[in-house]
Amino acid sequence: MPPIIALDFATGQEAVAFVARFPADTPLFVKVGMELFYAEGPQIVRDLQALRPLNLFLDLKLHDIPHTVEKAAYQLGRLGVTLTTAHAAGGVQMLAAAKRGLLAGAEAAGVLPPKLLAITQLTSTSTTMLHAQLQIPGTVRASVQHLGAVAQAAGADGVVASAQEAPDIRAVTRADFLVVTPGIRPLGAAVGDQVRVVTPAEAKRRGASGIVVGRPITQAADPLAAYTAINTEWRLATVNKNVDPYGI
Ligand code: C5P
Repeated sequence: MPPIIALDFATGQEAVAFVARFPADTPLFVKVGMELFYAEGPQIVRDLQALRPLNLFLDLKLHDIPHTVEKAAYQLGRLGVTLTTAHAAGGVQMLAAAKRGLLAGAEAAGVLPPKLLAITQLTSTSTTMLHAQLQIPGTVRASVQHLGAVAQAAGADGVVASAQEAPDIRAVTRADFLVVTPGIRPLGAAVGDQVRVVTPAEAKRRGASGIVVGRPITQAADPLAAYTAINTEWRLATVNKNVDPYGI
């Protein structure tokens, strides 16, 4: 899959104007997160889809009781997006409910069902926080690997994880399990608030199936040039187990 551009804009107008700068024949995969979705609602998804052909990652990180998540996922499943997220911490029943809801919603709307990615541990979670606040023993790394395996068992299609954790997840999941990694910076780019960053090529070497890139593209003087350079580096990087279920 091509690099996923995080559309971290406050308004739909800005997001649509940004996407409109890309030529129609450039394959685009964009991510809409909570800020944009809470501002604009599902209309932002429809607006982006109406603009041009693109794949959409709707990153809303569902986490509630299984019944509520299933109902919410049903609504998301109707939108014709490619990827969605739910927290693995919600448990196996909740992830399975999310998956059921996505499939049912997509079927009702006559669109392809979105893939479900599980959030393992947020990169803002430290080992100290795991122990002192959540009473989870062990390391963040061990917890991420465990939750990756749990997510697969629950029927999720993959996880969102840092590239550092990708090999751990690859070690305990099947070959076509998706590992989508943010925290990507091309050499020389501003790191911003990301603490641990890797290049697109390094992410692929570590087993990422896809990468999420925000500010290095959205804040670039020439976003198309920045995107093209990142896409080229990503595509050309070598990998042992490259997984590209979309064939694009
Ligand atoms: O601008 P930048 O490339 O840092 O954006 C990365 C995107 O990936 C943002 O939308 C951010 O919320 C998301 N993300 C992340 N780290 C995580 C999970 C998601 O940076 N652990």
